[in-house]
Amino acid sequence: MMRAVCVDVPGGVEDLLLRTVSRPHLKDGEVLIKVHAAALNRADLLQRRGLYPPPPGESDIIGLEVAGTVHTLGPGVMSPWKPDDRVMALLSGGGYAEYVAVPEQLLMPVPSNLTLCQAAAIPEAWLTAFQLLDFIARVKEGEVVLVHAGASGVGTAAVQLVRLFGAVPIVTAGSAEKLKLAEKLGAATGFNYRTDNFVQGVHEFTQGKGANVILDCIGGSNWEKNVSSLAMDGRWVLYGTMGGRTVEGELLGRLLSKRGHLLTSLLRSRNLQYKADLVAAFSHRVLPHFSAQPASLRPVIDSTFKLEDVSEAHRHMEANRNMGKIVIDVNPQIL
Ligand SMILES: NC(=O)c1ccc[n+]([C@@H]2O[C@H](COP(=O)([O-])OP(=O)(O)OC[C@H]3O[C@@H](n4cnc5c(N)ncnc54)[C@H](OP(=O)(O)O)[C@@H]3O)[C@@H](O)[C@H]2O)c1
Repeated sequence: MMRAVCVDVPGGVEDLLLRTVSRPHLKDGEVLIKVHAAALNRADLLQRRGLYPPPPGESDIIGLEVAGTVHTLGPGVMSPWKPDDRVMALLSGGGYAEYVAVPEQLLMPVPSNLTLCQAAAIPEAWLTAFQLLDFIARVKEGEVVLVHAGASGVGTAAVQLVRLFGAVPIVTAGSAEKLKLAEKLGAATGFNYRTDNFVQGVHEFTQGKGANVILDCIGGSNWEKNVSSLAMDGRWVLYGTMGGRTVEGELLGRLLSKRGHLLTSLLRSRNLQYKADLVAAFSHRVLPHFSAQPASLRPVIDSTFKLEDVSEAHRHMEANRNMGKIVIDVNPQIL
């Protein structure tokens, strides 16, 4: 048996219930992880409210990323993982629990200089940012990348990755404190979207050329400003709709006049082979930079909550208070 956070009736934070349930059964090619820490993602809030159900056949326990130790190898596992290895993993669900079953291809070793709490903040946020910048936008050296929600979990990863790829990150965020964090992580400049017109800021920064790439998790409320900020032939990558799902106005005409590319992506609904390829590319290209001396990349942790305080953690994210990731300490006794 194990402790896990369950949602019987979708709804508010009070509907997150800590329960004792059966441990997951291992399918072919899966590894059972003893979870030390999980991290929150915006999608968790939607899933709790019943607006983002897990893909068919996946755990209905919330949680898209964990770090912990290998407990048991399932039948047919080919990779050389062994019990007690420190691992972190991308999940389709099941993270808010003491044990989770994961396809072997979606495990990554925890960089030796990171704690398991820090490592839990990497898989979903960093693989999303890496996927958007590399697989989808194909960011090139010297390009200017506008990252909205620059202090979010994904945003703090994206800013650092843009720098790693030799491109120039600029950000928007909703407070001076959040902009300061993004600048500390490598943003060349930032705009408070509540008080500044970021279109003007982007044009001043790029001397009228506009941003080559926009990482957009806002959607509806920002569409006009995004098209206005985009460079000719630019790539606008939509990966969230926190600012609304509908648009009214001349989106197509404006986009066409910029010869703009509107790209979209979701990670959780991708098939196992795509995710395995993403994890392999990330492990090869990005992971070593977390443990380099000096480390050029770091997961940004906003706060850590106990598993029994998961409702508080959700409340904190829902109020847009976090800068970087919120971590859930599931099994504090593991080092
Ligand atoms: N497509 C995918 O595969 C994928 C995967 C992972 C995440 N995502 C998306 O990525 C986004 C970030 O996720 P996360 O977990 O990193 O989020 P997070 O850490 O909770 O940060 C989200 C931040 O976005 C800002 N925000 C919220 N509503 C806004 C609005 N209407 N307009 C402007 N800014 C707003 C807030 O910061 P401010 O104070 O700056 O407003 C908030 O703190 C979410 O939209 C999520 O759904 C997509």
